[in-house]
Amino acid sequence: MLTSENVTYRYKKNKRTILDSVNYSLEEGCFSAVMGESGSGKSTFLAVMAGILKPLEGTVRYNDVDLYELKDKELSRIHRNSICYVPQSNIMLKNITVLENIVNPYLETASDEDLKEKAVSLLEKLGIGNLAGNYPYELSGGELKRASIVRAALMDPKVIIADEPTTGLDKETGNRILSFLSEYAKAGNSVLVATHDEHIEGYADNILRLERS
Ligand SMILES: Nc1ncnc2c1ncn2[C@@H]1O[C@H](COP(=O)(O)OP(=O)(O)O)[C@@H](O)[C@H]1O
Ligand SMILES: [Mg+2]
Repeated sequence: MLTSENVTYRYKKNKRTILDSVNYSLEEGCFSAVMGESGSGKSTFLAVMAGILKPLEGTVRYNDVDLYELKDKELSRIHRNSICYVPQSNIMLKNITVLENIVNPYLETASDEDLKEKAVSLLEKLGIGNLAGNYPYELSGGELKRASIVRAALMDPKVIIADEPTTGLDKETGNRILSFLSEYAKAGNSVLVATHDEHIEGYADNILRLERS
């Protein structure tokens, strides 16, 4: 479904090759994880797979479409509907509620009411339905992370890519997130996460291990 072919990446300011000819395939129905020590390139790999960071060499294809050949408008559409990326850091806007943050990216494609109803049901599924009307600064790290995942999942994208979705969270919250993502993948989608969380072994269908070169 989402495939990398000979993907190589090097940052301009950093001579080290971070990704060296990586061939990888994220399959439908699979919950896949990328592990490796800090600096091994997990976040870089996720951003390349998400169509956010153009590789120096190689291609990333989503159902045979080369993501890096697309026009900005087409790529934005894919990012809204098909491949949703959840960065490690919180990117919720401060001055609007959690619910507004979740529905905002999609207002052009569906009604506010429908989006909010769906968002609240997903927030409830993740145990934070009561926080929909709160502002992001009123949420803990684990609550914000769950809200960001709801935002990514809102339009049922085929692919969710999440960078360290459970880092820094307690075991119960972390496992709740991993179960949600695992169930999401099983429903015929694909999920790719980067993680250090050892509990991933109980959830992921496969694990790619990156090594610092
Ligand atoms: N914007 C950047 N410019 C230069 N080097 C970077 C940049 N982002 C990351 N790096 C370097 O690339 C390597 C891989 O980083 P990253 O993909 O974030 O690894 P991980 O997520 O596994 O910790 C690290 O050595 C990091 O310092
Ligand atoms: Mg990282």
